[in-house]
Amino acid sequence: MNIAMNERMMTGALTFEKIKYLLLLDDKADIAKLIEKARQKRDTTIGNKVYLRGLIEFSNRCAKNCLYCGIRASNSNVERYTVSDDDVIEAAMFALKNKYGSIVLQSGERSDREFTSHISSLLQKIHEATGHNLRITLSCGEQSEEVYREWFRLGAQRYLLRIEASNPELYKKIHPDNENHSYNRRLRSLKTLIDSGFQTGTGVMIGLPFQTIDDLINDLIFIRDSGVVMVGMGPYVEHAETPLYEHRGKLLPAEKRVELTLKMIAILRLMRPTINIASTTALQTLDENGRELGLRAGANVIMPNITPVLYKKEYDLYEGKPALHDEPDEVGEAIEKLITNVGCQVGWSEWGDSKFYSN
Ligand code: 5AD
Ligand code: SF4
Repeated sequence: MNIAMNERMMTGALTFEKIKYLLLLDDKADIAKLIEKARQKRDTTIGNKVYLRGLIEFSNRCAKNCLYCGIRASNSNVERYTVSDDDVIEAAMFALKNKYGSIVLQSGERSDREFTSHISSLLQKIHEATGHNLRITLSCGEQSEEVYREWFRLGAQRYLLRIEASNPELYKKIHPDNENHSYNRRLRSLKTLIDSGFQTGTGVMIGLPFQTIDDLINDLIFIRDSGVVMVGMGPYVEHAETPLYEHRGKLLPAEKRVELTLKMIAILRLMRPTINIASTTALQTLDENGRELGLRAGANVIMPNITPVLYKKEYDLYEGKPALHDEPDEVGEAIEKLITNVGCQVGWSEWGDSKFYSN
């Protein structure tokens, strides 16, 4: 296809057909135009500030068995851990001291009372230790409405729950077929979070086996219409100790998955100019400059991993996850450089609530 990109395809309401046209762009110059347009859209609506979220992967214990995930319950090669409360608090203090403004507590998915009460007590301890100066995001899966409301009351202002794949048929292909992995329940959980007052985020994986371009278009439309104010989307990355690995032959090459993710970010920015969009770790896994590329394509959030090193390597969602290697702390000048190099500014010590939420 060698038709030069038509400007009209990026302006006005983005219909299914226009999104398809943009997702299928193949010419490098055309893709660069789309990405530039998204960056401009961000800069002229919410500005060029990038917000930091310190990611604490505080437990890799999980009761679920998603077919794509390295820490699924059935993977017995994983050494299971839960970070001690003192270490979580230390990580939160680290975030505060290094002007991150907010943290994300992420874990595998469990709904037993021991787990849910533990989160409740952690929330209180962190807020106390940090003088209520940090925004706390939870990413702890599907829970009952009572649990969500309790966590909200205890000061979790934001929640991330990816729908993973908005097409129920595709969802079924990447999850075990049982009650514990129900598409409808996940969708209801997302709605409950929004109704409970959370700044809610969702997202999908890009480049999954069996996924079609139409699925991705519908993912974007789903995200636009879902009422979320934050989005984290990243490329699917295979993991040898998972059932989905046998379909690796069907995957797009890594560069193409990165390119597709960047297009998804750029198109979403055009569709929803004021939401917060994260440039994800999975992007960085497939391309060492992946996070920078995401910011150039219109993302405005990065989530440096501040999990204590002792535990980091066991949070092994997919192959080559950068946190598995010792990496220099992403603070101060290092982070400033990463962000200013892509023409953005750092939102030091800012909570960085989505403007879509504030409005
Ligand atoms: N590739 C990419 N992302 C993955 N996740 C889990 N496994 C993989 C994988 N193999 C993502 C899911 C989940 C988040 C914590 O990590 O989207 O919501
Ligand atoms: Fe558990 Fe989340 Fe991995 Fe699914 S994606 S197996 S819920 S950690």
